[in-house]
Amino acid sequence: MVIPNDAYGGTYRLFSKVAERWGLDWTAAPLDDLDAVRAAFRPGHTRMIWAETPTNPLLNIADITALGALAHEYDALLAVDNTFASPYLQQPLALGADVVIHSTTKYLGGHSDVVGGALVVSDAGFGDELTFHQNAMGAVNGPFDAWLTLRGIKTLGVRMDRHCDNAERIVGYLSEHKKVASVLYPGLDTHPGHETAAKQMSRFGGMVSFRAAGGAEQAIEICNRAKLFVLAESLGGVESLIEHPGQMTHLSAAGSALEVPADLVRLSVGIETVDDLLADLEQALG
Ligand SMILES: Cc1ncc(COP(=O)(O)O)c(C=O)c1O
Repeated sequence: MVIPNDAYGGTYRLFSKVAERWGLDWTAAPLDDLDAVRAAFRPGHTRMIWAETPTNPLLNIADITALGALAHEYDALLAVDNTFASPYLQQPLALGADVVIHSTTKYLGGHSDVVGGALVVSDAGFGDELTFHQNAMGAVNGPFDAWLTLRGIKTLGVRMDRHCDNAERIVGYLSEHKKVASVLYPGLDTHPGHETAAKQMSRFGGMVSFRAAGGAEQAIEICNRAKLFVLAESLGGVESLIEHPGQMTHLSAAGSALEVPADLVRLSVGIETVDDLLADLEQALG
């Protein structure tokens, strides 16, 4: 298995602490570098590329079409974690992926009131196999959780449009701020993955990360001072959240090759009135 060298911390934990014990080998590679992915590939042994695009929390972009072609060249599968984009902004199956993973806890549910996940495939036989395993292992949504998720999906499009509108305004604001060293957002034309993102996404989403010019201490201070942006993990709900990945969502990657920068702040931009969000960032940045 080849996984992103900046995979979501929980994904890394699953592979390194659980799946590894079952004999699953993995190698981390920068998935935006096809030569590096090819070098990480062990023909005859590697069965899957697990991609995440955009990645959590560094917002790196992988080229789904190119990774699909590479995986299929070696008779392997391409799985894409599409949690950050949601199906409204990006459809990996249409771009050559074999499996799409969603944390439905996030944009699909949309209201931070349900925990769930989904695998989406286009091959019916493969779908039956996954359903067999799901039934055998018990990873089944309760009826109320399923209902909440279905209700959330009805407003996915309008929510995503608003998440994107608000994120774009916030990116513009942060890009000009002297206490911000850099803004990570695939919609910026300075982002290294911008061209690929523009090819495979209809817009660039509601997740924004930035690096504090004052380092780790300032990053934590900003997280603590924010009020409307609630200090919390998770993402993709209607309310805005702020967090320090190094000490929160990605703590399990500390000390590994997947450790995230300590000066990083991650925002899940919600659907509130954008002027209120900008005012909160203004007071939090100080
Ligand atoms: C990209 C990505 N995939 C998967 C997950 C896991 O989600 P859940 O908490 O619903 O298991 C997360 C959670 O943050 C995520 O960001």
